Amino acid sequence: MDTVHAPSPRPLNVQAPAAPLSGAVTVPGDKSISHRALMFAALARGETHISGLLEGEDVLRTADAMRALGATVVRTGPGAWHVTGRGIGQLQEPADVLDMGNSGTAARLLSGILASHGIFSVMTGDASLRGRPMKRVTAPLAATGATFLSRVGGRLPLAIRGVADPAPLSYRLPVASAQVKSAVLLAGLNAAGTTRVEEPVATRDHTENMLRHFGAHVTVEPLGAGGRTITLAGRPELVARDVVVPGDPSSAAFVLVAGLVVPGSAVTVRGVGLNPLRTGLFTTLREMGADLRLSNERIEGGEPVGDLTAIAGPLHGVDVPADRAPSMIDEYPVLAVAAAHATGPSRFRGLEELRVKESDRLAATVALLERNGVTVQVVGDDMIVTGTGGAVPGGGVVETRMDHRLAMSATVLGLAASAPVGVDDTAFIDTSFPGFIDLMNGIGAGLGA
Ligand code: S3P
Repeated sequence: MDTVHAPSPRPLNVQAPAAPLSGAVTVPGDKSISHRALMFAALARGETHISGLLEGEDVLRTADAMRALGATVVRTGPGAWHVTGRGIGQLQEPADVLDMGNSGTAARLLSGILASHGIFSVMTGDASLRGRPMKRVTAPLAATGATFLSRVGGRLPLAIRGVADPAPLSYRLPVASAQVKSAVLLAGLNAAGTTRVEEPVATRDHTENMLRHFGAHVTVEPLGAGGRTITLAGRPELVARDVVVPGDPSSAAFVLVAGLVVPGSAVTVRGVGLNPLRTGLFTTLREMGADLRLSNERIEGGEPVGDLTAIAGPLHGVDVPADRAPSMIDEYPVLAVAAAHATGPSRFRGLEELRVKESDRLAATVALLERNGVTVQVVGDDMIVTGTGGAVPGGGVVETRMDHRLAMSATVLGLAASAPVGVDDTAFIDTSFPGFIDLMNGIGAGLGA
C-alpha cells in the first residue's frame, strides 16, 4: 500500500442523467504544455509569466521540483504563475528527494535536465510511477556521461549523477514517445554541439515549439513517411517569454465523448488546443460519424485552438491505423467507450505503448468494458470493441488502478449505460483534471447526487 501518495479513495456511482447534457465549458490547461512551461522557464533567464497553467497534481509536482532546483516559482492567481529562471546549466543540487507523484512526463523530462547538470539527485514517485519503465530515457541519457542507479528494470527511485559538460546525443527513438524525445533534447540544452533526434513516427512537438519560443535554435525535417529529424543547437541563451497554455484536448475528450453518447446532448468545450499532433481522436470520432463542430479557430500562445461542439447521434465502428496512435495515445480508453456505443466492431491498431501508461491501459480498458457487458478482444497489440449500437448494459464496478483517464472514461461510460456503473476511486482525476466532476455536473451529469 502506498502510504505517501495514495489519497483517500473517492468511489463514485454513475448513472444516466435524467436529461441530456448541455452547455459550454472550458477545460483546464494542457498537461504536456504546462510541465514544459515550468521546466523551460526555470532554465531561461528572466521572469516568465504563464497563464492557463494546469493546476493538477502532476504539474504541481513539476513546480515543486523546479523550486527544489533553485528556480523561483510563484502562483499569482488561478492558472497564473511567475517563474524566475536560473539559466541553462545553472540549476542547483536539490537538498532532498524529488517526488514526481503520478507523473511520467515530469519524471522523464526532468531526467534529461538532471543528467545535464553537474549535480546529484534522486527521483521517486507513487506506486504507479515506480512501476513504469525509465530505461527508455536513462539508456540514451547515459551517453551524455551521466550515471544512473535504479531499481530492477530501471524503475524509480532513480539516482542521477549528472555532468556539467554533457556530450551531445544523436538518437533514433525505438518507441514513439514524446517524453523520450524531450528528455534527449533537454539534455542537449547544456551540451556543446548539436543534439539530434530521429523519430520514425511524429509525436507531439510541444518541446520543439516551446524551445523555439524561448529562443533556442531547433530545426525539424521530414524523415521517411511520417517521421521527423529534430536538431537542437546546444547552449542557447533561453530568454523568459510569456506562455499561454491552451485547454487540454486530452481532457476535452471526456466532455465531448459524453456529449456524443448521452442521447439528446449538445456540449461545447471552448479554447481546446488543436495541435495536429494531438487531434487523432477528433479525426477518428468524425470517421465514426460523430457530429463534432469546430468554430472560432485561432492561434493562442503559438498553438492552434478552437471551440468544439459535440452533438449526440449514432456512431458506427472504425478501424484506426497504428500510425495514428501517437496523436491520440491518451485517448484510447475514452475512444473505447465511444466505440462501445457505436454500431458494429471497431479495431484500434498498434497499442503496445498503452501497456506502460499510468496503468496497463490496454488491460484496464478491456476490464472496464467487459465488466459493463461490452464484448472486447485483444489480438496482438490491437483492441477490437464490439459496439452495442446504443446504451451499453453497465452494472459493473470499474477498477481505476491509480489512473485518472480510466476513472474519467468509466464515468463517461456510466452516463450512457442502462444500469449504474461503479468507479472504485476518482481521486486520481485530480492529477490532470481537477474539478472534472463539478464541471460535468455543470452540464447536467448529476454525478454524486
Ligand atoms: C506526453 C507524452 C505521452 C503521453 C503523456 C504526455 C508528453 O507519453 O502519453 O500523457 O507530455 O510528452 P509518451 O511519450 O510515453 O508516449
